[in-house]
Amino acid sequence: MKNSKHSWAEPYKIKMVELLKMTTPAQRKKAMKEAGYNTFLLKSEDVYIDLLTDSGTSAMSDRQWSGMMMGDEAYAGSRNFYHLEKVVQDVYGYKYLIPTHQGRGAENILSKILIKKGDIIPGNMYFTTTRLHQELASGKFEDIIIDEAHDPENEFPFKGNVDLVKLEKLIKKHGAEKIPYVSMATSVNMAGGQPISMKNLKELRALTKKHKIRVIHDMTRVAENAYFIQQREKGYQQKTIREIVKEINSYTDGATMSAKKDALVNIGGFLAVNDWDVFEEARNMVVVYEGLHTYGGLAGRDMEAMAIGIGESINDDHIRARVGQVIYLGEKMMEYGVPIVKPIGGHGIFVDAKKFLPHIRQDQFPAQTLAAEIYLDAGVRTMERGVVSAGRKANGENYFPKLELVRFTIPRRVYTQAHMDVIAESAARVYDRRNSIKGMKMIYEPKYLRFFQAKFEKL
Ligand code: F0G
Repeated sequence: MKNSKHSWAEPYKIKMVELLKMTTPAQRKKAMKEAGYNTFLLKSEDVYIDLLTDSGTSAMSDRQWSGMMMGDEAYAGSRNFYHLEKVVQDVYGYKYLIPTHQGRGAENILSKILIKKGDIIPGNMYFTTTRLHQELASGKFEDIIIDEAHDPENEFPFKGNVDLVKLEKLIKKHGAEKIPYVSMATSVNMAGGQPISMKNLKELRALTKKHKIRVIHDMTRVAENAYFIQQREKGYQQKTIREIVKEINSYTDGATMSAKKDALVNIGGFLAVNDWDVFEEARNMVVVYEGLHTYGGLAGRDMEAMAIGIGESINDDHIRARVGQVIYLGEKMMEYGVPIVKPIGGHGIFVDAKKFLPHIRQDQFPAQTLAAEIYLDAGVRTMERGVVSAGRKANGENYFPKLELVRFTIPRRVYTQAHMDVIAESAARVYDRRNSIKGMKMIYEPKYLRFFQAKFEKL
């Protein structure tokens, strides 16, 4: 037989393994009930394959672990901070660095500095913590992502794009002085890990420059976005991920980063800006909320692991295998007929719960229900990204998002292709018995970010 196949494979081999507990259906039934049908409240011990998130769940390399041993745990001026600062400047191209314990620490500081009461913050789809910090700083988030992003079936290759007409309308309506910045994310998480194109970014830069509005980049998954630009956008096939990442950042004024994703560490984040005034204020404020400006809530060793992880994250072979594994799982699920968000995104597979369980109304939590059923089948832990995650508006009304999804998030460098097969087969089994699945009611609701701790009961 003539071979024409050219598979991707991991550019690493396994040096240490973590043993997993296998559970029985009866054990899972008990565990899920005790967790109030919220996968966030399961004990990780009771989980076989953990796809709750790609945040802080990646496997570090031997080099990163070696870096951990080189931690300089001085209270001030740790050498690991200076290493990290240099990497952020070299790789990402931002001038000033404020480390934070994770992404939301940076969001808190940035929102407090830039947002005044009554301000509008346009963004390419909300993210839970990002929007909440904007609201806590008395701002109002406005969604300016293109309409295609709200349609799971639409195969537009850059569903993370900003709708510039929507943005112009907002500027006209409120005035540019009411818009402190545009909150632009690469690899839009809530849309299914969908990328923004370089063309769109350039246009966004031109429009915001005209109105003197900053662009702040949520660069949590910027390398994955760069990969899609390399694969899909004209003129970028010959460019490296490193070059593309730097070009993306060059159209923005600053960034918040959850390094727990792209940057391959278990904890860490930062705020990076080009503007000295914003930096000065942030450097002062970080002392109040995180720690001194040369550690921001992190140990020296964590900053070292991050500095090394950033370098590994923009390696072309790494990112090809990373996204390749996600696409492998997505294609397998499609073969089984499981409805997923298309095109397949960078960090996970998003199952369309509205299509999967059309008989369950949105106020009976189809995605929450489906995540619970997936766990019950084979011990795979996923996460709701629908009406529970969307939460309530400032006036107390529920947000009812168009997308009602279950996210199968793939940690980086952790699971094998055989795990992907097990996951797809399990989703297919649940799909086969979908008609017998009933919705749920919420019996406990916390005030902030309710999806983390809410509890449910089967109807
Ligand atoms: N921005 C994006 C796009 C994110 O995905 C996250 C976290 C944050 C900001 C906040 O960063 O967790 O370090 O404070 N996302 C995680 C997830 C929680 O599972 O998607 P953090």
